[in-house]
Amino acid sequence: MCELSKSFGGPRPRRVLDHVSLDLAQGEYVAIMGESGRGKSTLLNLVAGLDAADAGSVTLDGVALAGLDDDALTRLRREKLGFVFQAFHVLPYLSVAENVALPLHLLRVASALAEARVAAMLEAVGLGDRGTSLPRELSGGELQRVAIARALVHRPRLLLADEPTGNLDAESAASVLALLRSSLDASGAAGILVTHSRAAADTADRVLILGPSGLRPA
Ligand SMILES: Nc1ncnc2c1ncn2[C@@H]1O[C@H](COP(=O)(O)OP(=O)(O)OP(=O)(O)O)[C@@H](O)[C@H]1O
Ligand SMILES: [Mg+2]
Repeated sequence: MCELSKSFGGPRPRRVLDHVSLDLAQGEYVAIMGESGRGKSTLLNLVAGLDAADAGSVTLDGVALAGLDDDALTRLRREKLGFVFQAFHVLPYLSVAENVALPLHLLRVASALAEARVAAMLEAVGLGDRGTSLPRELSGGELQRVAIARALVHRPRLLLADEPTGNLDAESAASVLALLRSSLDASGAAGILVTHSRAAADTADRVLILGPSGLRPA
């Protein structure tokens, strides 16, 4: 992403991001820290094409998001991105396996292949025997592992994680972070981890701070 700027608010807009740039190599994993309200989530939304920047550009795998229409943007997001949010966003009325399978359904992956991928992914996150469970039967740490499985099952090129361990106890957080790291290493996907925890940030390849003058090394 290059020189991204974004303001919010009507007649007297407030600039949240001011010419923020970040170059992420293939397979690179960076952590972004910074005060609450600095614009970290806003930045992830721009990278994901969920919100449009006022100025600047986001390029993903050589494709400039600004040049895409809504359909193309949705397709690119489904194919190339994975998301993990602080609040899980696991659908309560679907089983664990059905939740993890969602990205594959959206991509119309054939069901036999999808089932195999889901089973392998659940195995990888240590939930191989919980596929038929409902989310309410899982702990917070287990739910976050479901969210990670769902974010990676379609083998995205970039994983965006916004405070994925914010709701977890120290032990679950450490195991979720280790899982994120190993999953990224195994898939070759790049990752951006937004976190308030220095210990969490240190599991990434590099740590950046989002401050008033943009991103700088920690
Ligand atoms: N849709 C919106 N409309 C108006 N203001 C917004 C909107 N989204 C974010 N903001 C404002 O932009 C600023 C940055 O918000 P953002 O959520 O990106 O911060 P953050 O760094 O992720 O904070 P936190 O660490 O608390 O999650 C905040 O002041 C917020 O109120
Ligand atoms: Mg945020």
